[in-house]
Amino acid sequence: MKVLYAVSECKPFLASGGLGDVAGSLPQALRKRLVGCRVVMPLYDGIKQEYKDEMKFITHISVPVAWRRQYCGIFELRRNGVVYYFLDNQYYFKREGIYGHYDDAERFAFFSRAVLEIIPFIDFKPDIIHCNDWQTALVPVYYSAIYATMPGYENIKTVFTIHNIQYQGKYGNELLEDVIGLSENDRRLLEYDGCINFMKGAIEAANKVTTVSPSYAKEILDPWYSHGLDTILNERSWKLQGILNGIGYDMYDPATDKDIYAHYSADKPKNKAKNKAMMQKEFGLEVKPDVPVVAMVSRLVAHKGFDLVKAVLEEIICTSDAQFIILGTGEWQFESFFKDIASRYPGRVSLTLAFRPDLASKIYAGSDIFLMPSKSEPCGLSQMIALRYGSIPVVRETGGLRDTVFDSGLGEGNGFTFPTYNAHDMMHALRRAFEGYSDHDGWQILVKRAMSCDCSWAKSANEYIKMYKELIKG
Ligand code: GLC
Repeated sequence: MKVLYAVSECKPFLASGGLGDVAGSLPQALRKRLVGCRVVMPLYDGIKQEYKDEMKFITHISVPVAWRRQYCGIFELRRNGVVYYFLDNQYYFKREGIYGHYDDAERFAFFSRAVLEIIPFIDFKPDIIHCNDWQTALVPVYYSAIYATMPGYENIKTVFTIHNIQYQGKYGNELLEDVIGLSENDRRLLEYDGCINFMKGAIEAANKVTTVSPSYAKEILDPWYSHGLDTILNERSWKLQGILNGIGYDMYDPATDKDIYAHYSADKPKNKAKNKAMMQKEFGLEVKPDVPVVAMVSRLVAHKGFDLVKAVLEEIICTSDAQFIILGTGEWQFESFFKDIASRYPGRVSLTLAFRPDLASKIYAGSDIFLMPSKSEPCGLSQMIALRYGSIPVVRETGGLRDTVFDSGLGEGNGFTFPTYNAHDMMHALRRAFEGYSDHDGWQILVKRAMSCDCSWAKSANEYIKMYKELIKG
């Protein structure tokens, strides 16, 4: 079986969020299970030179972008058993960052078209093209509108995974002919609510639509979660499936992580205390072994639940001895709230406004509790990393959080959860965690259980393989 995994970001080359993590670990997990999985992504300027030096030039082709043609260089790199293709066009990708340019629609229309155009030149005819989020959503659309009947492209099945339904690639209708290069006949594939909607196109055209947790697959059928796409998803719910993400177990391992202060594992947890003390010192918290440290590593945006935190944090600080450590950047209202509270509670609240994976590792390793009160969460990787590092998650029961964290009040759980999106319910869950923490021996058992949870790709990679096989069988 051959799978071409098309994606707009991928670790370790260049990534801005969880999508890059998944692209950096799922293909390797598939390869280990003998699926021929190759990855294709844009050759961004921001990719480190050391990777660019390793790339081998294969050839260049020209790719149609509506009525124009654009250069596309094809580069190849092999890493941990996976072949990666990088598609080069300096006009589109020699820019700062990954997204956020005025012509993103055209950049990713080009990339999606190129994913299909390279197939005759890479000696790899896929059975499945697996696309991810709006940036590659046009691949299934182009395949069904143009390529399905072309020689050399027969019998390819397309899979589209929704990692975040909030970003759909919505544009004005005028893009159809001049940027996307499809005719009026194909408008029905892409049009939704009076606009061109890339994600809607993929939901129509792909053979299978997946999302990154079973709970989120159900939630997005509801307008509260769907950002307007519930109508089309309900119509196509027969091809929708939720498959939980895993995390790369070699990427996130407290027994080998070079960024943490001291290594530890579920069987040898002693050094976790050392990580806590060193972290407290480095991040300006009072060095106290017996108070719970609550961590948040996240983009500081409303849907991650920061409005709940804002509403009750001061009350929690005043009624407990807990410390708080926050790492991330985001909306001004939350950045300034945390700045204010960190300045008023020195030694109790530590704030670092940055996106720094190395500091994130130190915080996963050094904290006791990991707070994730998201309003919605397609899967969420941080709670799984927290489990692996023995930081007990406190989460709202939504999406992937609901599918990975189980309340220990019920006996054999691995964290604390609350169902409603409500600040005092969150506070209550945190208080239960603090109570749990005060029972030293019980907490050690909980930490060990959390660290022993299986959040690897083992189970989910097999689910993907099963789904691919069913698609191929037809
Ligand atoms: C997006 C989602 C997150 C998910 C990740 C990887 O970033 O917001 O919940 O874990 O994609 O699928």
